[in-house]
Amino acid sequence: MEQTSLQQPTAAGNLYLPRQVRIRKIIRETHDVRTFQLEFVDPADRASFSYGVGQFGEFSLFGYGESTFNISSSPTWEGYFECCFRNVGQVTDRLQALTEGDIIGFRGPYGNFYDLKAMEGKDLVFAAGGIGFPPVRCLIWNILAERDKYGAILVVHGARTHRDLIYTAEMDEWSKIDGVTVVKTVDPGGEPEEWDGEVGFVPTVVGEQVPDMLARHGSSIDNVLAYTCGPPVMINFVIDALEGLGLTKRQIHLTLENKMKCAVGKCGRCNIGSTYVCLEGPIFNAEQVAAMPDDA
Ligand SMILES: Cc1cc2nc3c(=O)[nH]c(=O)nc-3n(C[C@H](O)[C@H](O)[C@H](O)COP(=O)(O)OP(=O)(O)OC[C@H]3O[C@@H](n4cnc5c(N)ncnc54)[C@H](O)[C@@H]3O)c2cc1C
Ligand code: FES
Repeated sequence: MEQTSLQQPTAAGNLYLPRQVRIRKIIRETHDVRTFQLEFVDPADRASFSYGVGQFGEFSLFGYGESTFNISSSPTWEGYFECCFRNVGQVTDRLQALTEGDIIGFRGPYGNFYDLKAMEGKDLVFAAGGIGFPPVRCLIWNILAERDKYGAILVVHGARTHRDLIYTAEMDEWSKIDGVTVVKTVDPGGEPEEWDGEVGFVPTVVGEQVPDMLARHGSSIDNVLAYTCGPPVMINFVIDALEGLGLTKRQIHLTLENKMKCAVGKCGRCNIGSTYVCLEGPIFNAEQVAAMPDDA
């Protein structure tokens, strides 16, 4: 497996014990998506916390339950970490009602993380649909912190409508960086009159933009690594589009968001065949996923 794993942390020997984190800032990304900037209440937790880019956590609210979110910040940032979630149900609805200063529970970090070394010198393609952007966004910020190590960068973020796009201000910031192309796209019909982005589904836009990026930078398809997250149907079509351009399955990486409970390999909720997504994932390459049983 190309990705790497960290030792699973334990909180005072209890695998399921959440640590308290305070919401120090809330960013309203869209009407139903929030970013929480979080800091540990206990200074000892703060001092001992570290994570790999791409890992996830279990975020909990007393009386409501736990939800699994990617850690959407870059480990290069100090003093806080972030999650970004869409309000889709019981826990996320309550989380959305919280205010700055409120305290929630956190378990993690869990899962594997991106292999940054393997990306050095490569041209990188990021394709994110809707709330699938946070697991890719943390990687983009980590890459940009050491921009010189990497080749051309293409970021495609799509959503149903322009109102559902997230991280729009930082996408504008990235687009000013040399060698970085950022494309916002909305599904047909989701664009306002004054829309200056693309109209089309993420896989289509990726299929059009990657050859342009390679031509601009005089690079070749062999040098590309791609990272995608979003609805399963989008991921499948992104893989098809990239394979159609000549990428191998090993060059394409995806984050699987299978439903989880324990996140520590105990409950059997997340597994696909013999693969425990919470332990061996959530990041896999497309070759690994193709070898899994059909429910992947
Ligand atoms: C590794 C991983 C990373 C994730 N990262 C993020 C993230 O960064 N931001 C984010 O908003 N969400 C993320 N998710 C999805 C998130 O965990 C669920 O949306 C959330 O737990 C729903 O909680 P809830 O109690 O509000 O919803 P519930 O009341 O439990 O469910 C509401 C609806 O959402 C569906 N649902 C619940 N969990 C999932 C899931 N994992 N996949 C698809 N549908 C689901 C339910 O079937 C139901 O229809 C991630 C999931 C995984 C496994
Ligand atoms: S979530 Fe329990 S085994 Fe993976």
